Amino acid sequence: MEIKKITVLGAGQMGNGIAQVCAQAGYEVKMRDIDQKFIDNGMATIKKNLERGLAKGKITQEEVDGVLGRITGVLDLGESVKDADLVIEAIPEIVKLKLDTWREVDGAAPEGAILASNTSSISITQMAAVTKRPNLFVGMHFFNPVPVMGLVEIIKGQGTEDSTVDVIREVSGKLGKKTVLVNEAPGFAVNRLLVPAINEAIFAIQENVATVEDMDLAIKLGLNWPMGPLTLADFVGLDTLLYISDYFVDEFKDSKYRAPALLRKMVRAGWVGRKSGKGFYDYSSDEPKPVRFH
Ligand code: CAA
Repeated sequence: MEIKKITVLGAGQMGNGIAQVCAQAGYEVKMRDIDQKFIDNGMATIKKNLERGLAKGKITQEEVDGVLGRITGVLDLGESVKDADLVIEAIPEIVKLKLDTWREVDGAAPEGAILASNTSSISITQMAAVTKRPNLFVGMHFFNPVPVMGLVEIIKGQGTEDSTVDVIREVSGKLGKKTVLVNEAPGFAVNRLLVPAINEAIFAIQENVATVEDMDLAIKLGLNWPMGPLTLADFVGLDTLLYISDYFVDEFKDSKYRAPALLRKMVRAGWVGRKSGKGFYDYSSDEPKPVRFH
């Protein structure tokens, strides 16, 4: 099956990145969100990213115009998917919201359209089960920032057909991404390692093993990570990390995945990282300042 039209549900951090790379690969893209201001913000981010590429001489004005011309913002869910070949969902990680959305999408999208979720933890099989096409339902997990990160995890649910995986592998290749195939399991491959690793860094802060900046520097230079684990925690969002940790404990029934009390306390305080202006660093000035916990 040839994919020409892609609908991206959600214009947030992940959704606008996915819409951008799809349009850059030549696909006709509809980017849907529930409020015009989210669509406008998503479009503004895409424009800013493309203009940065233009300023660096990596793309031409003609290409920028072409990419922007291939993305249409849409508010109505049914309208957004009615002629899609592939729907990629990047809406908030709330199970009920995902299930309700997939029920509606299933009823409105063409019969043969492939449905892909960018969820970072929710079961693909559970979402597929509310549709009439579990064979065409698959996980397509991108990484933030989407235009930069080179991986897509493809997640095979209980009913996902191999031919569906093949289509997603081909589309991901056109987006310039390498793929790995993961049989459904909580956290897939990457978050299963990433989330416990970040949590361990937070336990170390909680136990006063090192300061925030030293813990980050240790891992950045000692392991050659592009960002230290606490900078990365702020980048991903502490609310997301807590959600995934709690989900792991529920699903694996294993306390080794438990979230540090400090993470839970910070989320309760609204310190969820970069997007809130404060997490392990304070982002209120140009240069982020590490927070002191002891
Ligand atoms: N959007 C688009 N492009 C971006 C960007 C963004 N938000 N941030 C940086 N870039 C681009 C820059 O324009 C630059 O492009 P060129 O090479 O073409 O000039 C390039 O990325 C490198 O950027 P910088 O030089 O400014 O900074 P850097 O070298 O420190 O890289 C980074 C920034 C790519 C974010 C890097 O620090 C990094 O890879 N960090 C780790 C990110 C990571 O681990 N992501 C996964 C998070 S987990 C997840 O997403 C899954 C989940 O389910 C939780």
